[in-house]
Amino acid sequence: MSIVVTGATGHLGRHVVEQLLEKVPADRITAVVRTPEKAADFADRGVRVAVADYNAPETFQGLFSAGDKVLLISGNEFDKGRVGQHEGVLDAAKAAGVALFAYTSAPGSLKAALADDHRGTEEAILASGVPYVLLRNGWYNENYTEQLTPVLEHGAVVQAAGEGRVASAARADYAAAAVAVLTGEGHENKTYELSGDTAWGFAEYAAELSEQTGQEIAYNPVTVEALTGILTGVGLPEPVAAMLAGVDASIEKGELAVTTGDLSRLTGRPTTPIAESVAVALKG
Ligand SMILES: NC(=O)c1ccc[n+]([C@@H]2O[C@H](COP(=O)([O-])OP(=O)(O)OC[C@H]3O[C@@H](n4cnc5c(N)ncnc54)[C@H](OP(=O)(O)O)[C@@H]3O)[C@@H](O)[C@H]2O)c1
Repeated sequence: MSIVVTGATGHLGRHVVEQLLEKVPADRITAVVRTPEKAADFADRGVRVAVADYNAPETFQGLFSAGDKVLLISGNEFDKGRVGQHEGVLDAAKAAGVALFAYTSAPGSLKAALADDHRGTEEAILASGVPYVLLRNGWYNENYTEQLTPVLEHGAVVQAAGEGRVASAARADYAAAAVAVLTGEGHENKTYELSGDTAWGFAEYAAELSEQTGQEIAYNPVTVEALTGILTGVGLPEPVAAMLAGVDASIEKGELAVTTGDLSRLTGRPTTPIAESVAVALKG
C-alpha cells in the first residue's frame, strides 16, 4: 500500500512529496514521473520512483496496488487531450482496486474553457465508481508572482480582468490540502472547493508590488482580445493565449473570487496571502 503521486516532479507535485515526507515514511510514497533523472533527489531519500507517461496508458498498467491512495495531478499538455490522458491513469487505478483516487481539478464556479478538461475528467471519475476526492484547486498566487519580470520592466500589471477579484493561495497550501486528504480519513467521495481565504483585485496587487519594490507599478486593464495579442506576441500559441485570456474574463465575472474556507479547514491554517508570495518572489 502506497501513497502515489503523479506529476511528482512538477511545481505542485514537488510540494506534495516534500510535505508527505514530513508525515509518512519515504518507502510508503511513490512518485510517478516521466523523467526519472528529475526525481533523483526523491529516490536518494528513499521515495519509490515509478516511470509513466500520460500519453502511454499502458505505462500505468500494473503501477498501482490494491489499497493505494492516488493523487492524479492534472497534466499541462492542452493539445494532447487531457481527459483521455487522465482516463488512462484512472482505468489503471480502478483495475488495481485503489482505496482513494484524488484529482486536482478546477473550481466549480469557473466556466472558462480551461475548466472543460477538468469537468470531463471529473465525469469519468464519478462514472468509474472508484472512491474519489475532487480537489477543486483555485488559482495559485504563483501564477502572478512568478511572472514579475515584464511587470517590473514595464511598471504595469496588464490583465483583462477589469475590477474582478481572485481568491488565490500558494501552491504549498493546495499541496497541504492534498496531503491532508491522502494521509487522513473520511474524505471518500467528497468535493472540496479550495481557494485562498480572501480575494484581491489587480489594482490592489499593483499597489502591493509598488509598496514592496519602491517602484511605481500601475494596473493597466485591457480587453481579452488585447491580452490574447500580448500573449501570442511573447510566443504562446494562439489557442493557449486565448484560453489564458479567457480566464481573465471569468475573473471579471467573479468566477475565481469564491471563498469557501475549505482550504484552510483542510490544512488547519490560514492560506498564504498574495503579499507573502510577492515577497518570496522578489527575494528570488
Ligand atoms: N490552479 C492553478 O492556478 C493552476 C495553474 C497552472 C496549472 N494548473 C494545473 O495544475 C497542474 C499542476 O500544477 P503545477 O504548477 O505543478 O504544473 P507543472 O509544474 O507544469 O506540472 C505539471 C506536471 O505534469 C507532468 N506531466 C505533464 N505531461 C505529462 C505526461 N504526458 N506524462 C506524465 N506526466 C506529465 C509534468 O511532468 P514533468 O515534471 O516531467 O514536466 C509535471 O510534473 C498543472 O499541470 C495544471 O493542470 C493549475
